[in-house]
Amino acid sequence: MTTQQILLGSRPEGLPVAGNFLFSETNLSDIEKSEVLLKGLYYSVDPYMRGRMNDRKSYTPPFELNKPIVGGVVAEVVDSKAKEFKPGDFVLGTLPWQKSMISPAKGLQKIDTKIAPASYYLGILGMPGLTAYFGLMDIGKPKAGETVVISGAAGAVGMVVGQIAKLQGCKVIGIAGSDEKIKLLKEGYGFDNVVNYKTVPDMKKEIAAICPDGVDIYFDNVGGSISDAVISNINFYARIPLCGQISLYNTTEQPTGPRLQPMLLTRSVLMQGFIIFNYQARYAEGFQALSGWVKEGKIKFTETIVEGFEKLPEALIGLFSGNNTGKMIVKAIE
Ligand SMILES: NC(=O)c1ccc[n+]([C@@H]2O[C@H](COP(=O)([O-])OP(=O)(O)OC[C@H]3O[C@@H](n4cnc5c(N)ncnc54)[C@H](OP(=O)(O)O)[C@@H]3O)[C@@H](O)[C@H]2O)c1
Repeated sequence: MTTQQILLGSRPEGLPVAGNFLFSETNLSDIEKSEVLLKGLYYSVDPYMRGRMNDRKSYTPPFELNKPIVGGVVAEVVDSKAKEFKPGDFVLGTLPWQKSMISPAKGLQKIDTKIAPASYYLGILGMPGLTAYFGLMDIGKPKAGETVVISGAAGAVGMVVGQIAKLQGCKVIGIAGSDEKIKLLKEGYGFDNVVNYKTVPDMKKEIAAICPDGVDIYFDNVGGSISDAVISNINFYARIPLCGQISLYNTTEQPTGPRLQPMLLTRSVLMQGFIIFNYQARYAEGFQALSGWVKEGKIKFTETIVEGFEKLPEALIGLFSGNNTGKMIVKAIE
């Protein structure tokens, strides 16, 4: 049997382009003991994948040239020689960008579609949701009445952070890149205020105006000048969970920003980077909290679902121009 796949054809300079991806076909052999044959249903595109397109050592190894891109995928088991899975099961795994794939059963997680739609396991009930939960609760340590500012607020991680912070009794301010996103966060998700960083002329002044008591927690998804502006308004003993720096992922030269360390030092601020894998031993705790809030209707979630396996490169590139609200997902349609 042959199946379509998408390979990394070349490494991007700056923003990735369609030409960095190669469409190809591969043969699938018969499955062996402890293996399953899978059909991809939902494919996750995530900002961290941009880092893996570089030939640079990081916390995950680079994607290899002329090999399939690999990412989070929800798939259906078509055939199984593994005792853990039977045809018809839905699984979550780190799998190649292929329409069908053979995988060892080890490393696959069976998902329960009675709790939530299968695609939620790539979003609120998966890596982004867990990132929001542990970044905010473990590093941010929110207390009722505190002011929490979130950059990338209308994305998969950001919209969950804001809602968890509201559940903790915080005042929640988002930063996002379109008026539609701002309307959704304010009217649909209970954010107290949201700033459009693309239209506000002076972010530092704007944050000062809408956070008269200063910023106690800054959940940073974005970095760059947005973070400079927020950190200028940071309070004594504030916490900064350093989750992502998407504004810098495509830069070809290292930008120089204001030196923030004097502010962090004099105001006794904690800024801590983290990678969600650090919390692997506590995923069950995060999943229980998130799935509980989803079931009780206390947290809502938005997905941007792009249809068609061949749209994967376009969807990934689209993250860097804000084409998504909530989790960006590609759905295979045949
Ligand atoms: N530490 C970890 O373990 C971990 C895990 C997951 C994610 N992350 C990080 O968390 C961040 C959010 O991830 P996500 O999966 O939730 O992605 P996402 O927010 O759903 O998608 C990316 C969003 O970033 C915004 N953006 C893109 N370029 C920007 C720029 N130059 N300046 C400001 N905003 C920009 C866009 O929204 P706008 O329309 O608002 O511009 C876009 O929709 C990323 O930085 C990611 O790398 C970290």
